Amino acid sequence: MVKAIIAPSMLSSDFANLASESERMLHCGADWLHMDIMDGHFVPNLTIGAPVIESLRKHTNAYLDCHLMVTNPLDYVETLGAAGASGFTFHVETSRDNWQELVQMIKSKGMKPGVSLKPGTPVEEVYPLLEGENSVELVLVMTVEPGFGGQKFMPEMMHKVRELRKKYPSLDIEVDGGLGASTIELAASAGANCIVAGSSVFGASDPAHVISLMRHSVEIAQNGF
Ligand code: DX5
Ligand code: ZN
Repeated sequence: MVKAIIAPSMLSSDFANLASESERMLHCGADWLHMDIMDGHFVPNLTIGAPVIESLRKHTNAYLDCHLMVTNPLDYVETLGAAGASGFTFHVETSRDNWQELVQMIKSKGMKPGVSLKPGTPVEEVYPLLEGENSVELVLVMTVEPGFGGQKFMPEMMHKVRELRKKYPSLDIEVDGGLGASTIELAASAGANCIVAGSSVFGASDPAHVISLMRHSVEIAQNGF
């Protein structure tokens, strides 16, 4: 059984008021703040980088769960670590040849290493990264194509979550994309415990309610594992 972690995606926040938006989400019960870092190359969108993480860090002690949708994640480890990132999740598609070096560097900078996979990437591709001493501590299963908030959840990704949960009972398994009141059940019952949600939380009239509802679903499901 693993802990439920709800991580609002700050991509759906008002970036011009990132500090107060973060504060608001923590007040609503968020465990982590999910920070989507995009380079305009790995994905067709460009967002934030280390300078923004550094600025936000001055306003909060929260866990900053950084999701690197970038072609060269290795180039970002040093600066993000220094900026105060807590988690560093890179994409397996970008790091097939150097993930060991990458994981080692992420750990040496005091961050929690995670690996993410796009919808078209088979789950088997992350298995080697979960073995041995130099392993990742979180797997982020994308439930939409990375790049933008507000897309439709892909239920056909749940077999990846189920397989990971069966193999790794105490692993942090994160899902990202299209999560909200109508999809949380599918993700929670498959075994996901870290839930990223952007539009469903920021678009709600009562974000605290959506966060607690998602937490409840994960807790109920985890009791059965
Ligand atoms: C998409 C990002 C997500 C996104 C999720 O590439 O990784 O974190 O913000 O947004 P929603 O919850 O709106 O699908
Ligand atoms: Zn994300």
